[in-house]
Amino acid sequence: MILNSKKAYKGVIERYKKFLPVSKKTPRITLLEGNTPLIYSPSLSKRLGKSFEVYLKYEGLNPTGSFKDRGMTVAMAKAVENKMKAVICASTGNTSASAAAYSARAGMKCVVVIPEGAIALGKLAQALIHNAKVVAIKGNFDHALDIVKEISTNYPVTLVNSINPYRIEGQKTAAFEICDYLGCSPDFHILPVGNAGNITAYWKGYKEYYSQKKSSCLPQMLGFQAKGASPIVRGKPFKNPETLATAIRIGNPASWEKAVEAKDESKGLIDSVTDNQIISAYKILAKQEGVFAEPASAASIAGLLKLNKKGFFKKIKGKRTIITCTLTGHGLKDPQIAINNIKRPPVIKPSTKEVLKVSGII
Ligand code: F0G
Repeated sequence: MILNSKKAYKGVIERYKKFLPVSKKTPRITLLEGNTPLIYSPSLSKRLGKSFEVYLKYEGLNPTGSFKDRGMTVAMAKAVENKMKAVICASTGNTSASAAAYSARAGMKCVVVIPEGAIALGKLAQALIHNAKVVAIKGNFDHALDIVKEISTNYPVTLVNSINPYRIEGQKTAAFEICDYLGCSPDFHILPVGNAGNITAYWKGYKEYYSQKKSSCLPQMLGFQAKGASPIVRGKPFKNPETLATAIRIGNPASWEKAVEAKDESKGLIDSVTDNQIISAYKILAKQEGVFAEPASAASIAGLLKLNKKGFFKKIKGKRTIITCTLTGHGLKDPQIAINNIKRPPVIKPSTKEVLKVSGII
């Protein structure tokens, strides 16, 4: 390698190897994932009030545009270390994009099973361009997950959904980064919940850092599902989950119990937000913060605003309250949703005068 400076960032395995199930022998299958920014949000902080600070963990800036890359680097490295030749996953889109890219990097065969017609265009494009074998089923994510679980049990193929423990190990590094950056853990951590792997991973990360004395407290975990796909909130699976936030259109999350554990142990909550609340938050993020995140990610912000309206966040005298919100994926993953939710630009004659008139410059 030409650029092999000691100081160069080398991805989450190298950075957090002390906390991960890896050894010197584990290959570094990396696209330099992680190290994503924790962006201070002036407008959201202002909405909450003076002593509140809201930060956005912008995971859309990972190599394939979502948080999945943190887990995929570890899952793929272990698959290569264990001499596996193929991986498989079910996906609402982002897992398949990440699995496809890291498989390409590792020289691994990759099969992804997706619900037909329910994957955002950008994610499908990613899986295809990275040369995964993409199979669409006439069913939803839950059906796809059942199928890939059965295949990986009976054939020599590694499952790289978040029930693969290496995925959770990698994803917990986002919590480490937040603590490293803030110098402590936040008071509250808000994130969307779909298959419930990420809330499991963050809570594991926060607890490990706390027990290793790398942080001095623990956050309350606040998870948000989309109302039309909110089995954990309702307490029973959804047969036909529906939400425009297709990434979290899941009726029977694989890590359901772990998510409830995270909620209970942290004295947090798991609640739901409507599609309208999600779109409203999605637009606030884009217009007021300059941050473009996909709809599922905006569920964090919709949840923050919902709780704030209810007076959930109490001001504590002499103390600042830090709230971190994970924005799980990039807005460019799902361009159609953006286009559907804005006014189309006017088409006019090619004249300077007309452009000046329509643009509002004069
Ligand atoms: N946000 C985005 C953008 C996602 O892609 C997902 C999950 C979640 C949130 C929820 O995370 O499942 O760990 O609770 N996407 C998976 C996939 C299911 O197949 O890409 P979770």
